[in-house]
Order: sequence, then C-alpha cells, then structure tokens
Amino acid sequence: MMKFAGCSLAVSFTPISSNIIKNRCRFSIGISRRNLYKSRFFSVHNEKEKPHDKAVRVAKYYLPPWFSVAPMMDWTDNHYRTLARLISKHAWLYTEMLAAETIVYQEGNLDRFLAYSPEQHPIVLQIGGSNLESLAKATELANAYGYDEINFNCGCPSPRVAGHGCFGVRLMLDPKFVAEAMSVIAVNTNVPVSVKCRIGVDDHDSYNELCDFIYKVSSLSPTKHFIIHSRKALLNGISPAENRTIPPLKYEYFYGLLRDFPELTFTINGGITSIDEINAAQKAGAHGVMVGRAAYNYPWQILGHVDTAIYGAPSSGLTRRQVLEQYQVYGDSVLGKYGAKPNVREIAKPLLGLFHSEPGNGLWKRKADAAFRHFTTMKSFFEETLVAIPDSVLDAPVAEPVPGRADLFANIDSILPPPYKSREEDILYA
Ligand SMILES: Cc1cc2nc3c(=O)[nH]c(=O)nc-3n(C[C@H](O)[C@H](O)[C@H](O)COP(=O)(O)O)c2cc1C
Repeated sequence: MMKFAGCSLAVSFTPISSNIIKNRCRFSIGISRRNLYKSRFFSVHNEKEKPHDKAVRVAKYYLPPWFSVAPMMDWTDNHYRTLARLISKHAWLYTEMLAAETIVYQEGNLDRFLAYSPEQHPIVLQIGGSNLESLAKATELANAYGYDEINFNCGCPSPRVAGHGCFGVRLMLDPKFVAEAMSVIAVNTNVPVSVKCRIGVDDHDSYNELCDFIYKVSSLSPTKHFIIHSRKALLNGISPAENRTIPPLKYEYFYGLLRDFPELTFTINGGITSIDEINAAQKAGAHGVMVGRAAYNYPWQILGHVDTAIYGAPSSGLTRRQVLEQYQVYGDSVLGKYGAKPNVREIAKPLLGLFHSEPGNGLWKRKADAAFRHFTTMKSFFEETLVAIPDSVLDAPVAEPVPGRADLFANIDSILPPPYKSREEDILYA
C-alpha cells in the first residue's frame, strides 16, 4: 500500500516561499512579545542597538539567528537543508564549508556548488581558505547567489584543511591574517560576515589567547559576529570526529567572551542537544545557539520545536507524512541532475534520522538500505520503505520536546575566567 494514500501528491514548494514572504510582512508589522524580549540580537526596534547596518538589513527580512544549524561537510547539503526548511521556517541554515579555491576553479560550474532554492533563506555560506585573492574572488562569485551572510571557517581541524591546506582552525594562530581575510571578504560582499572558530588550538588554549584572537579580528576587520565551538582543536593527528568529542567543552570561555566583548555578537556551539539546553544557553545570555549533530541526527525532535519554542512563532503544522510528500517532489525533481548524481541514496540520506526512537525506525532503515540499490525514483523508494512506519507516527504532530539539561549553564557565572585585559600595544604593532 502506498503510504501517501489519502494525501494529495500535488504539493510543491511554493507554500514555503510564500511563508517567507509572509514572514517578511509579519516582521515588518510587529513581532510577538517573546521576540521583542529577545530582540537584542539584531534589533530593528532600537536603532541604537544595531551591531552594524548590514546585519540590520538582513533582520528586516528574517527573524534573527537565535537558532542555527551548523555547517557540516557532506551533511548540510541541499538535500538536508531542504528537509530542515520543511520542518522549521526560521532556523538559519549553514552550508557545508566550500573552499574558496573550489569556487574560483569551478567558475564555469558554480550552480552545482552554490545554487539553492529560495525556500532555504535565511542561509549562510561558509567558506574556507588562506589565499586572500581566492577569498576575494570566491566571495565576489558567490554574491550572485544571494546568501544572507558569509561565514569564514576558522575551526576545522581536519588534516587536509588545517594541515596541508593551512586554513581552518590553524588560522586561529594568525589573527592578523584572519582580520585581513575578513576585510577582503567584507569588501567583496554586501551581506554581513562572521567567523566560526574554536576556543583554542593545541597549547594555545588560554582564555587570554582566545580573547586576543577575538580582539584583533574584531578591531582590525568588520567582523562583529563570532560563532564559538566551545572546545579547542588538537592538531596531533586525532580524527575530525575525535576533535568533536575528545577536547572538553569549556562553555565558561564562551560566556567570558560575552562579558568581555559586550559590543560583539556571539553564538554558542558544541554539545547542545535539546530544546531545554538551547533555551538555557539563551537565558544565560548567548545571542544565538548553533546546533550541529543533534539537528542532523534528530531533525524532527530539534527542528520541529525551533519555530515555536525558540522563535515564539507558529509551527509549520506539518506531519512527517506531509514533510515527506513535499520532500519527494523535491527529490524527484533533482534526481540525476548531474548525470548519475544525486542518486536516491544521497537524497534519502538526511531522512534517516526522521523517525529516531519511533516504532518501525529500525525496519525503515533496513528497508531503506536495501531500497537504495533497487529504486530509481524517490516515489518508488517511499512506496517501498514507508510501510515500516505506523500511520500513527507518520500522521502525528510534533510531540513535546524531549527533556534536556535545563540547568546546563546554571552555575556558569561562578566559573568564568578572569576578565580579559586587552593589550592595545599588541594591536598597534600587530
Ligand atoms: C559531519 C560533520 C561535518 C562538519 N563540517 C564542518 C564544516 O564544514 N565547517 C565547520 O565550521 N564545522 C563543521 N563541523 C563542525 C560543526 O559545525 C560543529 O561545530 C560541531 O559538530 C559541534 O557542534 P555540535 O556538538 O552541535 O555537533 C562538522 C561537524 C560534523 C559532525
């Protein structure tokens, strides 16, 4: 039996884009009390509060990045972002990191790397690199695609990036270069720019060194927004995955930055896995919260609550059956767009967490694995596999959020590092 029976298959993406247009209107005519309370991030209500003009221009169109999905290589591709946007209208979505060199060398083939559907706004392009000319050219080429912000990767520890490539987190050791890079990027775009970094590298892991990095980059470039993955990176040969678990999280560094750089905007990242924790991070003062693995592995449990619990806005109201109906239309429209790519497996990959901890999840994954080999359309893939999931799951609205560590930051003030004293002379002679 076809699992979509009873629901119209004549769905398209237009409702989402019209939602964005509605959001624009809604934002301009007033936002909820809850949002007013939170409007300190990128305020359009109090002109004095604005961190910089470009950010305010963005905020006129979209709600601010109180919640964002982290850039994740091979994960936050067009397929995942399409799914994420069907579940949350307001989450800010980051692309995977694209090397500036790739953008430059693929100049004749840019759509494949940079194109996305308009429904994905607000969307941030993350670029990486260590060559100023390439960064400038890549930013200029990306302008045509209308990203809402350009983010510069100063956090990736992979040997290919931080080792051979000499960029990613290695750049934290050279804040002056990062400032130059950010200036070059900012000059070549008309949207806000931001940096995503760690709290340190190897032995360069003191709070003061982190502050020096933030101070130099923010004073010598137009960077006003920093996303802090709150653990250091180890460049001693451990894998990128181990670099996301072995170095301990030090949220006290993040909250120290909030205290010591009140004129800047900071988004916290790393180890946040529930709505309770997102709310707790904001309550403790974080301007924005970025979630990576949890938003990918449990998209329904996290993204399903973002619009209501974080933005105080209505939920999309879609059930997973309805999400998948729309995703099927998307999937079949892009299947084989570049010869053999993307294939059913690639398009279905972000869906594998959609039924996490639900009845039928194990069977659905096994069926999906077998179906990848045989089915050539998303429609037939869904017809074959979704029989594993009970109707009661497919048609259920988003359930209550799974409880998390609501007290995660409760004692943060008592463990903050000593206040940073900026060393002006270092900046003058940097
Ligand atoms: C598969 C994978 C790929 C990643 N790729 C990137 C990347 O391209 N750029 C980047 O800045 N961070 C990347 N990260 C790191 C995440 O953006 C994030 O900082 C990290 O996972 C910690 O957040 P989390 O604990 O919420 O997952 C990646 C993480 C994962 C799991």
